[in-house]
Amino acid sequence: MQTQAIGLFDSGVGGLSIWRAVKRILPNEHTIYLADNQNAPYGEKSKDEIIALSEKNTEFLLNQNVKLIIVACNTASTNAIPHLRRKYKVPFIRIQPAIKPAGLQSKTKVIGLLATKATLKSTMLNELKQIIPTQDIEIIGQYGKGLVEIVENVEMEQPQTYRLLERYLIPMMAKNIDQLVLGCTHYPFLIPQMQKILGDNVQIIDPALPIARQTKRILTEFDLLAPKNQKAKHYFYANKSIKALQIMLKNYSGIIIKLIDF
Ligand code: DGL
Repeated sequence: MQTQAIGLFDSGVGGLSIWRAVKRILPNEHTIYLADNQNAPYGEKSKDEIIALSEKNTEFLLNQNVKLIIVACNTASTNAIPHLRRKYKVPFIRIQPAIKPAGLQSKTKVIGLLATKATLKSTMLNELKQIIPTQDIEIIGQYGKGLVEIVENVEMEQPQTYRLLERYLIPMMAKNIDQLVLGCTHYPFLIPQMQKILGDNVQIIDPALPIARQTKRILTEFDLLAPKNQKAKHYFYANKSIKALQIMLKNYSGIIIKLIDF
């Protein structure tokens, strides 16, 4: 079991923001990453469609014999995790918007949450809001329409990207946010551009490192950590295009990227 890979899935390259943190915290682990880019964006789909796609991705990864699955997508996590946990035995790591740490750190008591449509309307997000011990925190939710496509097309530095980000961020700044929670795994690839607009007074919260540390805790608890001398291999599969994966992974060695049907 210990030598089996960790599986991750997302609607595209967004989950790479989680993968790179996992690689840093768990350098000996083999990984298998699934980019279901044929069905992106997930954020526009219904809960039932997101559950069906999450099941399909889980079964693909289980057929590859993974020992744990990171649902490297807020949209799939917030809509499908309870269902996946009921249906499959493999341990799942979920990603959820980090509104709790943001709320605790906020001095202005106003935080921004940029996420997909399906995450913003998910029951899990609403439950999460209820359990935050910070009732006096105001959350300004904003749907980041178009941002997933920008990252999938690797157009982060285009002028129209800045214009779109300004449209979403400036109204939040006007409401005095001091924390911006990234509720979609694609958005960390826009942090440099967002920070230019937000300046130094707004802190951006990317959950990737805490998720990677949580993965390490769960592997340790289940006695599933890879041997320390294991030389990690990383497989990436996509079902529409591998172009974005190739561009975004160009600085990594020891990786295999394939276009497949699934
Ligand atoms: N990266 C995903 C997320 O974290 C999916 C975005 C999408 O496909 O809409 O929500």
